[in-house]
Amino acid sequence: MKKNITSTHDTSPQSSVSSSKRNEMQKNEIKSSNIKWHSASITREKREEQNGHRACVLWFTGLSGSGKSTLAHAVEEKLHQHGCHTYVLDGDNVRHGLCSDLGFSINDRRENIRRIAEAAKLLTDAGIIAMTAFISPFRDDRERARNIFPPGDFIEIHCTAPLEVCESRDVKGLYQRARAGQVKEFTGISSPYEAPLNPELTVNTGNLPLETCVDQVLMMLRERKLIACESERK
Ligand code: ADX
Repeated sequence: MKKNITSTHDTSPQSSVSSSKRNEMQKNEIKSSNIKWHSASITREKREEQNGHRACVLWFTGLSGSGKSTLAHAVEEKLHQHGCHTYVLDGDNVRHGLCSDLGFSINDRRENIRRIAEAAKLLTDAGIIAMTAFISPFRDDRERARNIFPPGDFIEIHCTAPLEVCESRDVKGLYQRARAGQVKEFTGISSPYEAPLNPELTVNTGNLPLETCVDQVLMMLRERKLIACESERK
């Protein structure tokens, strides 16, 4: 992987949004007083330089069963083969630990997405390409997640498999149970999914083979110069 990193990132919480907006958010959200940001001497830029690629977050969103996790893990395999440092945060997995206290109400989903965004931000500060596979059904919540990142770091990827396809796959049997009223507030059935209006990438995970979907993500990463082109590697 070519080591030619030019990004400049201040990782302090003030860096990604305007200071007035951040001050407003801080007033609302930080309960602790008497705390002071510590700037590390090993910076994100140094880590990216050492890794040989930029860090970013690939935010996969779509219905349950749309293929978010499958695609994220397949992309991760390819990136890993290319020598990239990666990590996938997966909805079902994270709900076993970090978010085990959360359910599927609007407020719990909001808190789920807030925590994932903060976790992904830590990973990008560590120089990693973070991939998140969460339904993240609400535009506001995704927008809030985007806003904690510096411009260009948050890459929203809409996995567009339609409800009929996801429901016919019904990998976990949850659609059938939701239709029967046994699973409440189920996205697409009894809770809404707000499709992204302007995602960085839309992938038709309903029709296209997995390999094609993976290629589309990798091509987008190359176009954005987040990873090197084939000819630049070695
Ligand atoms: S999100 O809405 O908060 O982003 P998340 O991606 O973490 O959801 O979790 C979704 C996964 O939880 C689904 O793939 C499914 O396996 C499971 N699940 C269980 N109950 C629900 C529900 N009511 N709505 C959606 N997914 C559910």
